[in-house]
This record gives sequence, C-alpha cells and structure tokens, in this order.
Amino acid sequence: MVGGKQRLVVVSNRLPATLKKDGDEWTVQGGAGGLVTALAPVLKNRGGVWIGWSGASDPSIDVDSLLADFSAKAGYELYTVPLTKEEVDGYYFGFSNEIIWPLFHDLQTRCRFHPRYWRMYLDVNFKFAEMVARSTTPDDYIWIQDYHLMHQAFFLKSMGVKRQTGFFLHIPFPPPDIFMKLPWRWKVIQALTEFDLVGFHTTQDRDNFAECLRRFQPDTEIEGSGAVVEVRSGNRQFRLGAFPISIDFNQFNGLAENEDVARKAFNIREALRHRKIILGVDRLDYTKGIPERIRSIQTLFRMFPDLRGRVNFVQIAVPSREEVDEYKELRTEIEQLVGRVNGEFSFPGWVPVHYHYKSFPHDELVAYYSAADIALVTPLRDGMNLVAKEYCAANVSQDGVLVLSEFAGAAAQLQEDAYLVNPYDMEGIAKDLNRAIHRDKAERKLHMTNLRDQIRKNNIYWWVDSFLQAGISKRLGDFPEMAT
Ligand code: G6P
Repeated sequence: MVGGKQRLVVVSNRLPATLKKDGDEWTVQGGAGGLVTALAPVLKNRGGVWIGWSGASDPSIDVDSLLADFSAKAGYELYTVPLTKEEVDGYYFGFSNEIIWPLFHDLQTRCRFHPRYWRMYLDVNFKFAEMVARSTTPDDYIWIQDYHLMHQAFFLKSMGVKRQTGFFLHIPFPPPDIFMKLPWRWKVIQALTEFDLVGFHTTQDRDNFAECLRRFQPDTEIEGSGAVVEVRSGNRQFRLGAFPISIDFNQFNGLAENEDVARKAFNIREALRHRKIILGVDRLDYTKGIPERIRSIQTLFRMFPDLRGRVNFVQIAVPSREEVDEYKELRTEIEQLVGRVNGEFSFPGWVPVHYHYKSFPHDELVAYYSAADIALVTPLRDGMNLVAKEYCAANVSQDGVLVLSEFAGAAAQLQEDAYLVNPYDMEGIAKDLNRAIHRDKAERKLHMTNLRDQIRKNNIYWWVDSFLQAGISKRLGDFPEMAT
C-alpha cells in the first residue's frame, strides 16, 4: 500500500524500458507505446510497480543499476525478471512466438508445437510469478499483460499467494476449431480461469474464449449481457470483458497540429508531387498482410491504368523479431514484391511504391499519417490495430479515408465509417481503393469526423479506466481520478 491507496502492479513480458546494445555500451530506451503512455501516470500517482524482462539475457549486465535512473525519472519501480538465453529461446521465441502468436492469429500451419517450448513457458511463468509474489502484497492489484504470461494467476495460487489479478490479451482469441489444435489447450484454458478478470479487445474474442471454456467445462454459466460478464465454471467464478484498446488521441492530434510536423507533412506531399498517397504502416510481421497488400496495389494499377502516375503507395515496415528466420524471409519476400511492382509500372518521374524498412521518430510518423490521403490497414488478423486509430487521430484536415481489414479488432468499432475489406481479396481492395480515391470531400469529412469522435471518446485512458473498474469494482472508489 502506498499512502493508504491500492497500488497497481503491471506485469508484462517487456518492461516499459528495454536495454539495447549500442556498440559495446548498453543503453536504456523508454517505450513510447500507448500502453506505457497510459499506465505511466497511474503508476506514478498511485505508487506502482512494473515487472518484466529487460530484453537482455547476458548475465554480465547489471540490469538493475541501468534501470535505476529510468525508474527514478518515471516515478514508479521496475523489477526485472532475469532470463537466460535458453529460457528466452523456449518461452519467448518458442512458445510465445512460434505457437501462441500464429495460432491465435488463425495461422496454425505456422505453429511448431515443440513440447520443450511448453515446458520452458511454464518454467518462465513460474519465475515471473515468484517475482510477483515477492514484490507485492495482498492489497495490490496485479494486472498481467498478454499471451506470454497466461499462467500467472495459476502459479500464484499454486504457491498459496492470494492476489487480486486481471489479465488482458493484446492479440485475438481464436474460435474453438482453431484453439483445439493446441496440445496443451485445457491447461491454458484452465490457467486463464484462475484470474479474477480476463479481458479481450472485442466481444468476438471474449465469446470465442467462452465457447472454448464451455467445451472444457460444459457446466459453464454466463451472467450478464454487457461488455463485462460474470462466469461460473466448475469451482471458479470470475469476470470476462471486452475492452478495445486505443491510443492517446490528443497526443497524435496535437502533434499533427504542430507547425514542424505540418511542415514535414507538406514536404512529403511536395516530394511526391502532390499525388494521392496511400499509406501502410506496420511492424514487419506475417500477420499484417504486407505481401497481400502490395499485390492489391499491383492489382489497382492493373485494373485502373488511369491511376498510374497519379497515386503513390508508401509502406513503412518497422523492423521486428529480426532474429527469427520467418521474419527474415518475409522481409526478402516484401522487398522482391516491391521491386516487381515498381519494375512493372515505373516510368521517368514516377515510382509507384515507396518502401521504408525502419522505425521512424514519432513526429515523422505523424507527418506521414497527416500527409496520406488513404490509410490501407489490411492485417490478415489483428487483435486491435492501433495504426488505424493513429491515422485518424493525426488526420486533422479530416480529409483522409480509412481502408480497414474486416479481420482487425478495430473493425468492430470503426466499420461504419471505414471501407471494410477482406485482405485476401486483391480485386475487392483495388476497387475500394479506387472508390476511396474518388470519394468526394464532403463524404470524406463526414466519415473522418465520425472516426475521430469515436477514437477521441474511447481513448487509451478510457481503456485503462474501464479495465480497472471491471477488475476492482467492489473497490471502485480506490481509483476515482482515472475516470476520463
Ligand atoms: C504485439 C504483442 C505485444 C508485443 C509486440 C511486439 O503487439 O501483443 O505483447 O510486445 O507485439 O513484439 P515483441 O515480440 O517484440 O515484444
């Protein structure tokens, strides 16, 4: 307890600050993602703790002293769970990234179900749970993030440690026919039932989980019909909820209004000779549908030759999981495709696809968002997809168009005002892009205003607030200042 108030303890695979090697030196980089932005003030105000892995597995590094500075500035404590290379390989690269990640994104043929991954996943989850037990008290609220750590409540209970726990899954939860492929399916389902609250992005994900649970435990009863429901299943009673994650709307909107950023956006448009800009921004990941998207751009220029020379497609691919072979191969595939499309259509003064493989500083990214006429967001499957929301928040001219995959969690909230597309349907996407390019100004404004209103209202602070309210509702008064 800090100042008589309930502390918040966040537990995630990665800490909000990660260690990076810069030559021979280790440096600390603060995370700038939405989750960190939203949770930092809550952790600071309430007194809080963030527990996670530093991202390094070299035992010679003094992680704690490197992070001490960050922690002092941030105003909350950081505890690291040290992991060996073998643990990182089995738990993170193996079970998390080669099994749960593809399976939960409906790409089960990419899974490698090695039993040793499972054993290491359990060992590392146990290690995390020991750290949670050691560094928290029964009065704390423990909020576990994501698929890396699904066994936290299970291990805390098996150690006899009583804590109030919530879990949020940042990726989709698959329907039973896909989930059932997991050799350890019931153990995972059972472990999730040990939390007091399990949160998903959409009601679809929540219902998929409930259906899997019913197959495991046919006596499961669900009470309530809102976003948060009460579940009785076997000897367990807990809550399930749908909490669509979001962004800090004002941050993106404000940056886009900033003079320097506006100038950068203008320069981008100038450099592309004020042609229409279609923009894609993603971590380079096979769930994001980047090759399919480039093929849909190829289809666009084949089906609508009048658009040649009048439209540019800009793809920003942010490097991710670069040690993994599949990600290396995907990068090569994308680069070859970009070359093929440019080879097919380019003429002097016009190259259709501009491809960037790097991570952009925040202000430059926002400049791209605000320069773009159309955001083409076509993941094959995605928990939420924050790029769709960031694009709208940065579109201060309210003149842009969102073309969004129907398989992104964001589609549930944004479907009325975006063009919803099937990421595998090249011709369908090409036709919708052509419509989007020709959409009149009044219609663009109407839909973009609606999108922005929705995202402004249901922002990341609302997300944090609604999860914590559902998690601790018997003690709601403990977090009064979080209401937005
Ligand atoms: C997804 C996951 C996050 C993860 C992020 C980056 O968004 O839901 O938990 O942190 O990808 O992936 P990485 O494996 O680099 O942490």
